[in-house]
Parts: sequence; structure tokens; C-alpha cells
Amino acid sequence: MTDTATETTSGAAPGQRGPDRGDSVLPELRATWWETGVRARAEAGVFTVFAELPRLVAQAVTTSWRADRVRTCVVAGATIGAGAMAAFGLLATQRVLMELFAGGPTADKMVAALPALAALAGATALRAGMGIATGYALNGLTPRVSRVVERRLFEMTTEVRLGAFDADAFADDMERATRGTDSAISLVPASTNLLASLVGLVAVGIAVVVIHPLLLVALLVATLPNAWASLRAGHLRHQTYTAGSVRRRRLWLLQRLMAERTSAPELRSYGLRRFLLNQYDRVMDVETDIELDLARRVTTTTTVGSMIGGVATGAVYVLLGLLLIDGQIPLAAAATCVVAVQAAQRALATLTFQIDRVYTEGQHFGDYTGFMTRAAAYLPEPAAARGSGSGGASGPAAPSPLHELTVRDVSLNYPDRDTPAIDGVTLTIRAGQTVAFVGENGSGKSTLAAMIATLRTPTAGTICWNGRSLAHWEIDELRSRIAVITQEYHKWPFTAATNIALGDVDSEARQDRIEAAAGRAVAHDMIQDLPYGYETLLDRTFANGQDLSGGQWQRITAARGFLRDAELLIMDEPSSALDPRAEDALFQAIRDRQGQATTILITHRLANVRHADRIFVLHHGRLVEAGSHDELIAAGGRYAELFALQAAGYDVAPSTSVPPPQQR
Ligand SMILES: Nc1ncnc2c1ncn2[C@@H]1O[C@H](COP(=O)(O)OP(=O)(O)O)[C@@H](O)[C@H]1O
Ligand SMILES: [Mg+2]
Repeated sequence: MTDTATETTSGAAPGQRGPDRGDSVLPELRATWWETGVRARAEAGVFTVFAELPRLVAQAVTTSWRADRVRTCVVAGATIGAGAMAAFGLLATQRVLMELFAGGPTADKMVAALPALAALAGATALRAGMGIATGYALNGLTPRVSRVVERRLFEMTTEVRLGAFDADAFADDMERATRGTDSAISLVPASTNLLASLVGLVAVGIAVVVIHPLLLVALLVATLPNAWASLRAGHLRHQTYTAGSVRRRRLWLLQRLMAERTSAPELRSYGLRRFLLNQYDRVMDVETDIELDLARRVTTTTTVGSMIGGVATGAVYVLLGLLLIDGQIPLAAAATCVVAVQAAQRALATLTFQIDRVYTEGQHFGDYTGFMTRAAAYLPEPAAARGSGSGGASGPAAPSPLHELTVRDVSLNYPDRDTPAIDGVTLTIRAGQTVAFVGENGSGKSTLAAMIATLRTPTAGTICWNGRSLAHWEIDELRSRIAVITQEYHKWPFTAATNIALGDVDSEARQDRIEAAAGRAVAHDMIQDLPYGYETLLDRTFANGQDLSGGQWQRITAARGFLRDAELLIMDEPSSALDPRAEDALFQAIRDRQGQATTILITHRLANVRHADRIFVLHHGRLVEAGSHDELIAAGGRYAELFALQAAGYDVAPSTSVPPPQQR
């Protein structure tokens, strides 16, 4: 199954295309197969998937075993035991019936049946006891296994490189992987139940074969169509489920957009209510169509299966009658015969059901393990494995204090973008310097900063810390020496104090350090004015939680960056929402670092850049100018032009009353 990338943008699985609604270009309206792999897996036949099941079951059982050995043993042992008891009970029932239908006086028959009756009672009691034991063990096992499996998922998602989140289908795979975490635990009882019903089937099979071997063959023929139909139905369901990832995420997004606090103001001010409800209807219409189509196909499949099964069952009874008439089965055993045939059919049906469950849960768990394998490709390479780039040293070393940071001919291409975001940039930053990256929106400033902060890896070129590539230093050590205030900072739903303390989780969160950092970022007074001061929860959706204005959030974010006494501080537009006084104070705090620690500053307020030791001007991903403020002004290039443009905005006589500098 080779699908090309064109399928991702234009293709829809035939027969699953949403109704034409003019502008229905939304991806959620199509069955989307982002990756060749997804489609190949979804279109794999029933038997291909079957071949994978033993491996998945083994993985699930191993996981469960590691999570809790005793309970896993109890579940496995008791389930199989209960299956065996069920089979044993069946044989005992048959025995009882044989005795009861034998010739002779009734009292004798009762006495003769007693041992078998006792065995039946014992088996039934044992079976019930084992069922209870399984229930108890599962109750304890389920949360443990869920936790292990889910934690592993989050260990992965928190470790993968940032690039993974830009990759096609990562979010969709993740969505299905989350569903798959539940299947790990379902797979354990499902597969032991499958084993148990196999045991049961063997017992029943023996009982039937004893009566007549031909009956067993007939029974198998009667059951197989149903088994095939139910597997085929499960397969259809999973195919549709796999193709619907984008649609489900889109629906989930719409549900949140319509119900969440953050989108509520714009929803009202732009009058988006009908627009969003309409979007919801459109996605839902397609979803319903697909569900109905699926239901139709599943029903057709199962109906055909049951029809063939029904005819075959009729044939079994006809065969039974013929055998009776022919005298091959004694009339005395007729009742036993009917019971045995029914029991055999039940056992086969149970087996089918269990196979279907293992198959379905196995497919979901396969989504999980598949995601884990694909995500592993995005794990950062261990420094030792990256070979020796410079200096011949092989193992990762703890970085020495920063003397010099060099960016050598570095480029970065985002996936699916024709033009590089950063294109052959070379520059040097010396310890103690404050440098500025300047340029228009989209010129690549944040991308370059992210690479220096080790958050992204260059597609070409190297960035060196003291002459040695970033890749060859111990990454965690390196990151602990760098503080980054990203442009798209996150509003962590914790208290104000914790929000700042997050800047240095490896050290003790001492209140005086937190307050000092807040002071440097002009956040201290503002936090003290909050209802619970530093202990105010900064999430309005919880009781007593508060929200902050954009500028207030930015002060907290800056404080987080200041908390860690980083050798290298990277601030990506840290003042975009600050009022003039706060902005002035923040830049003063940055200037205080000059000569002692290194700062990379990205800002559009060029007045604040004048003090920088060096200014690097980026344009379309290229470094077009570099120098001090005075040098760049004298050169009369792009920087001088931007600076003049901005300065002109302030160049008014003090007498004319003008609004204060633009602020948000
Ligand atoms: N995750 C991403 N995936 C694809 N393109 C991106 C991504 N992030 C940024 N870009 C693109 O890279 C270019 C540079 O972005 P960025 O470094 O954020 O610019 P700046 O910070 O100078 O405004 C832009 O054209 C932007 O659209
Ligand atoms: Mg930016």
C-alpha cells in the first residue's frame, strides 16, 4: 500500500468523502490518512492484524506483570481456572443427565447421579470463587497498569524533540495512543479469557466427539461464519476509527471553543456562536454519515454471518436426527446430545467473542505501541552516540562556564516549508555581552534563539558553546545554564510563587529568591496586591483562582527567567505587553547583567537595544547587518531605517498633547 504525500492534502478514502458543501476543504470532513503507515495499517486484512496479536498480548502481559506480579498471576490463574471449571461443570452436567436418563428405577438413578451432582456443585462454587478472585485482582491491577502505561506515554511526550510536534499525524497518533492506554489492561483478562474459553472448548469438544466425531465438524462449520462476521465487523469499526482521528480532534476542539473561558469573550464580541455551531453541525453531519455507513456495513456483515450460521445450525440438528434414526446414537443419550450440542455452540460463541475482544483491544494497544515506536524516533540522541565532532572527545561532558558562543553557518528548515526559517547565519557572542536580534516579524529571530537554547536542532551548521558543538555537551547541564523566556510563554495554572519557582525547579524554592526575581521583573508589588499574594492561584477556573492581564503575566514570566542565575539569558520579546514603567525597569535589570552574564534580547522597541554590545539584524532568515547601535546607524542600512521609523513616532514637540507611547 503505497500512498504518496498528495493523498494527505487532496485525497479522501473513496466512499468516505463527506457530502459536498462547497467550501468543505476542512480536513476533518475527509477520512484523512496522514501517513502511508496509517493507511497501510488500517487497510491491512484481518489476518495481517492477527499475526501481530501474539506480540501485543505478550507486551500487555509483560506490562501487567511488571506493574503487579501477584495480581497478574491471580487474574491469569483464576480466569483459566474458571474456564476449566466451566468445562468440568459441563462434563459433570452431561454425566448427571446420562445417569438420569439411564434405565432402571428412579431412586437408583438419583443415587447414581449423586457423585456427578456433587462434582457439578463443587465446580460451580469453585468457578464462582475464581470469578470473584479475578474481579478483586483486576480492581487492584487496572489502576496500576493504566498508570504505568500512561506514565510511559507522558515520559515519551515530554522528552521528544520539539520537531515531533510539527510532524504530520503526531497529534492524531497521540489521540489514538491515549485510547490505547486503556487497552493494555483490557488485553490481559481478554487474552486469559480467550485461553479459558479455549480450555472450555476442548472439554466440550471431547464431550461432543464422544457422542459422534461428525458432530464436532458440523458444529465448527456452524460457528465459523459467525466468527468471521464478528471479526470482520470489528475490523471495519477499527478502520473507521483510525480514519476519524482528525475529525474527532476537530470536534473536541470545537467543543472546547464553545465551552471554554478563554474563547468566550471573542466568541461573543465577534458573534461567533452561529459560526461555531454551524462548524459543529458540519463535522457532526459527516460523522453521522460515516457512523451510519459503518452501521450498515457492520449489520450486513453480521447478518450474512448469522444467516449462514443459522442454516448450518439447522443442519447440525438434522444431522443429529439422522444419527439418531440411524441408531448411531442411543436414544437414551438424546437429551445429553442436545445439551452437549448447545454447550458446544455456546463455547464456540464465547471463544469468538473473546477473539473479537482480543482483536479489538489488541488493535487499540497496537496504536499505543506504534505511537511509542514512532515517537522514539524523535528522542534526542544521547550525547555519547553523536560521535565526536570537535576536540575528539566522545562522551558528553558537563559544560564549562561560557566564554564564547558561536553560530556557524546555521540553517533551519521547518518541515513542509520551501524557504528556510534561518539561512546560513554565522555570528559570535562573547560572555558578558548583551546582544540583540532585530528584524521584522517572521525574520527568524525566535527560531535562531530556540536553536541557541537547544530547543531546536539546526538542519545545517553548528552552534558551539566554548568551541564545542551544543550536541556534544551534556544537554540537561547545558539547559540548566540557559534561561529562556519564550515569546509564546505558557500561563502555568499554579500559584504566583510556583509560577516563578518553575524557573529553577532543581533548587529549593526559597521565598526570598522568588521575591528578588519578582522584584527585578517589576512583579513584586503587583503580586502582593493579589488576594492571596504569592499564594494566589493563577487559574480562574478553580475556586479562589485569579487571572492576570497580559502585561502582568509577562512580568511573572520575566521573573521566572530571572530566578535562575543563568549564564545565558534569552528573552524573546519579553516586554511586548508591558507598560512603559515596567518596560523601563525590566530593561534596566537586563542592563545590570551586562559585563557579568550574557543576554540575548529580542525586541521591537529599538530604543532599548541601543545599549546592546552588538545588534544582529535578520531578514528572511539571513543575517544582513551586525554591529553596535552607532555603527549600524552610521551604516544607514535596514536597522537605521527601522530605528528612524520608530523614533519618528516619538518625535513630537512636548507642548502638543499626544497620547503616551503606544502600549497594549
Ligand atoms: N513550528 C513551525 N513550523 C513551521 N514554520 C514555522 C514554525 N515556527 C515558525 N515558523 C516559520 O518560520 C519563520 C520564522 O519564524 P520566527 O522565528 O518565529 O520569526 P520571528 O521570531 O522573527 O518573528 C516564519 O516564516 C514562520 O512562519
Ligand atoms: Mg518571534
